[in-house]
Amino acid sequence: MTIEKAQCRWTSLATADREDILALDAADRKWAALLPARVLMQLQALRGRDGALGMPVDRLEHSLQCATRAYRDNRSDEYVVCALVHDVGDVLAPYDHGALAACVLKPFVSERLHWMVAHHALFQGYYYFHHLGHDRFARERYRDHLWYGDAVEFCERFDQCSFDLGYASHPLEFFEPAIREVIGRHRAAPELGCTSIEAAELARLRD
Ligand SMILES: [Fe+2]
Repeated sequence: MTIEKAQCRWTSLATADREDILALDAADRKWAALLPARVLMQLQALRGRDGALGMPVDRLEHSLQCATRAYRDNRSDEYVVCALVHDVGDVLAPYDHGALAACVLKPFVSERLHWMVAHHALFQGYYYFHHLGHDRFARERYRDHLWYGDAVEFCERFDQCSFDLGYASHPLEFFEPAIREVIGRHRAAPELGCTSIEAAELARLRD
């Protein structure tokens, strides 16, 4: 059965037939396959005028420094990509940017790295919350969590120190292969949100 249609005539999911949904699924997969390019575009959106954001470097340079430090520390591609993408949520989610970045990364990285990115903003607060009258030790609520140390280490060694105008970071192009490798990995149908094993089972049932 072809999954291409000259026109999509359906007006609601309730009335779409199987052929319609297969065509939609195929289009979703093509769209998802272009995610690495869109992540790179979002990273470009972090570019800004130095100093205009109250930081010595803009958010893109901060992200590049963070990723470069992780790369030079011989971290895995997954880790380096997390370091590069961890603040990408700043564009659309300034009130919980870690959650947005973690959501983008979730299908492609370990649970440990996903948790680390999702919680990094609270852990980063150790370095400045007290200047704003907040509790710099707020991260201690996760003291007994399995990955507490990972989030502490990420902020200490890679994130909080990456605002250095004099640091020689790699350009974004340097990280493109890692982005395409990690975020370009085949995953389940994007809207299903299931594991690759579940996706294989769904594909078997569909075929
Ligand atoms: Fe950051």
